[in-house]
Amino acid sequence: MLQGLSQPQKAVPARWFYDMRGSQLFEAITQVPEYYPTRTEAALLQAHSAAVAERVGAEATVVEFGSGSSIKTRTLLRAMPRATYVPIDICGEFLDEACAALQGLFPALRIVPVEANFMNPVNLPLPPVHGDEARPMLGFFPGSTIGNLTPVAAVDLLRSMRETLGEGAHLLIGMDRAKDPARLVAAYDDASGVTALFNLNLLQRINRELGGSIPVGEFRHLARWNPEAGRIEMHLEARRAIRFEVDGRPFRMEGGETIHTENCHKYLPGEMRVLLAAGGWRETEHWTDPQGDFSLILARADIEQEA
Ligand code: AVI
Repeated sequence: MLQGLSQPQKAVPARWFYDMRGSQLFEAITQVPEYYPTRTEAALLQAHSAAVAERVGAEATVVEFGSGSSIKTRTLLRAMPRATYVPIDICGEFLDEACAALQGLFPALRIVPVEANFMNPVNLPLPPVHGDEARPMLGFFPGSTIGNLTPVAAVDLLRSMRETLGEGAHLLIGMDRAKDPARLVAAYDDASGVTALFNLNLLQRINRELGGSIPVGEFRHLARWNPEAGRIEMHLEARRAIRFEVDGRPFRMEGGETIHTENCHKYLPGEMRVLLAAGGWRETEHWTDPQGDFSLILARADIEQEA
């Protein structure tokens, strides 16, 4: 974090968004009219979960990477009543709450929560159940979270997922599509200002948790389309020259200088296939909505990995 603030282009890792208030603000973002990904993906899951169950097998082990509240998973699990569910999340408390809520809805569901950082391969502690060897594995990574990683980091994560799930596994992944930049900018700079609050909350969190003195009111939220990188970038721009401290270290910014807070990569369908293949996954199904805004992709780990 301090290192990021010391670079010529100041940057803070996007994971700093998600304290309690940031998570609530993200939930609010998913409800604003301009932010289409969440509801578009939810409709795709409603429409195609039965086909996923048919392809993969209704008794599969469903491993969700970064499960959070597991809300989207409900649609999938409704189509897979004999599944085992393995939610992986870094926050144990959140995991316990989500599992209790899910168990209430699906009393017969076998849930095996794993508290871990899913960016690295995870050793799944699956207790042996008769017939487990034959159970197919299905990774689940919705929300276009893959788009928040640079393509190189995304490929590393896809490879790591493959290692976690094993040869022959399936992966159901949601990815946002490249489209008119004006629509993308609006989705990340909504008229009601919720995304701006989400972005600015990151500075409040730094002040609170790292004893910072950042003048939050002197920053404004920016969402820009970067055509070379094919991504929306979120920044916080200083309105005037300012000085502040974080963790006892002094920093200064000129007016107009920015802190880069997030990347949201948007891909064309062909680029998605290439990215998945580089990560060791072959696309087997590709669903989209009538407007072609978002992709729900089923892929299989059956490509020979290079040495
Ligand atoms: C979590 N992630 C997929 C969101 C996105 O669309 O990239 C985060 C977000 N940032 C601003 N709005 C939404």
